[in-house]
Amino acid sequence: MKSITLKKEKIYSGNLLLINAHYPLHNTSPSSLTPADPRFPDILIQRDAANALQLILDKISAKNSIVPVSGYRSSAEQRSIFYDSLKDNGEEFTRKYVALPDHSEHQTGLAIDLGLNQADIDFIRPDFPYDGICDEFRKTAPYYGFIERYAKSKKKITGISHEPWHFRYVGYPHSKIIEENGLSLEEYITFIKSFGEHNRYIYYGKDSTATEVYYVSAADEETEVVLPDESIYQVSGNNIDGFIVTVWRKP
Ligand code: DAL
Ligand code: ZN
Repeated sequence: MKSITLKKEKIYSGNLLLINAHYPLHNTSPSSLTPADPRFPDILIQRDAANALQLILDKISAKNSIVPVSGYRSSAEQRSIFYDSLKDNGEEFTRKYVALPDHSEHQTGLAIDLGLNQADIDFIRPDFPYDGICDEFRKTAPYYGFIERYAKSKKKITGISHEPWHFRYVGYPHSKIIEENGLSLEEYITFIKSFGEHNRYIYYGKDSTATEVYYVSAADEETEVVLPDESIYQVSGNNIDGFIVTVWRKP
């Protein structure tokens, strides 16, 4: 066995950060930002998310029909989107569709708004319907680490209205577990919290690969996590109080 030591501030980085009205962003400079699509060099997301997005678009041959609309936003950008929307659209609309500054997951570089490639694309609410190529995207996304983040049925939990265009990268197999169980990200973070080191959640993929997922609460300064030798693993903070550990079992 080997052990890794995690500093407390690591709870504020990783693919599984929960960012919402209750939990603000702490880490203000995401690493590895890269264009979500080479044809749109100003729309950035984190590298793993960009690679996954390109794989999905390739898989469903959607490069010409689906375009990125909004990716990474700095704190200043989120602030101006929020206040411009208040001015232009009013408070009710803005609170439904625009997260408060420093409470937007766009600021992590893990969120992307997508739109159908058409003449007039609305920046806040792009068209991304539940049929045709957009729905193919929606169905394929969880195999590559993306989830539809703001479902109609989860408004009360997420605090945001239905956003068919907003996708969040959480990584595989988390995306698949979330989709198969019909959870919001808020619910998934709570769900995983009930699985600890000695009682791990095990996800069996289609090819029978097994992935273990569990929660480790953060100690005051440093947290030690024990892992099997030579294991492939990933650790993400939950942005609240601990870490979600993912271990891919050897076949
Ligand atoms: N539209 C989403 C909620 C955001 O502003 O982050
Ligand atoms: Zn969005």
